[in-house]
Amino acid sequence: MTKIIHLSDLHFGAHDPRLVDKVEERIDAVKPDLVVISGDFTQRARTEQFQEACEFLTRLGKAGHEVLGVPGNHDIPLYDVLRRFLSPLTRYKRYIDETLCPYHDLPKAAVLGINTARSLTFKDGRVNEEQVAYIRDTFRHHPDDKPRVLVTHHPLFALPVGDGPELGKAVGRQEMALAAVADAGVDLLLAGHNHRASTHRADDLVTGAGNALVIQAGTATSTRLRDEEQSFNLIDIAASHDVSVAIQAWDGSGFADAHRQRFLRQAGDWQTENGRELAQADA
Ligand SMILES: [Fe+2]
Ligand SMILES: [Fe+2]
Repeated sequence: MTKIIHLSDLHFGAHDPRLVDKVEERIDAVKPDLVVISGDFTQRARTEQFQEACEFLTRLGKAGHEVLGVPGNHDIPLYDVLRRFLSPLTRYKRYIDETLCPYHDLPKAAVLGINTARSLTFKDGRVNEEQVAYIRDTFRHHPDDKPRVLVTHHPLFALPVGDGPELGKAVGRQEMALAAVADAGVDLLLAGHNHRASTHRADDLVTGAGNALVIQAGTATSTRLRDEEQSFNLIDIAASHDVSVAIQAWDGSGFADAHRQRFLRQAGDWQTENGRELAQADA
């Protein structure tokens, strides 16, 4: 069993320190093989906000946890225009990670992160040709029974934001990204940005998008909510065809299992454990 804690949208600078403590407590209790952080480490990409994020990562490291992170749109300075265009991710690289395409080859899962944050848009994301080539190359030689996990900040699909019918934007150059994901046989797509937890089947969202399970994390520690309490995901990968997602939701005093679902893939299609269509079982 491979355990992944999937955090997103920490937003240091607009965070609740109490929740940060409780996230760490839960991670220590779970002892995951990997902590994935799918972007928006900071609120405004300020040095002191990155320093707080860095201290959080240092504490995770000292407690023995491996971390894989990707930047979010909030990790690029917004108002400092010179820095935004000339050195958008310098602070991210200094305080979070030098690499923008981190890769962890775990014994029972391969996890790759790709940067979708860009200077030219305020909050949207995109992928480029070099990145989709890298996705294909990285996963090309993996055995089919080893789950492939791709992490981005921006979801590759248009997915719900908040409580209403509003959908967020899909990543820019979506068609190119989805072709690479299908070719590379990606099993799990992990993202954040919308501050809303949900799970979907790629092919239900875009016809022909392949067989990946699409897993969205809420915001773990931000105080700026969109109609949903803070949460993060605990993902148990038993095999490339057997994955459980347990939403760890803030209940006012700590994070606990609020919604757990097991997904089984048969003949290429993900189903919930009881056989219901996945689209009806969104969190
Ligand atoms: Fe965010
Ligand atoms: Fe974001």
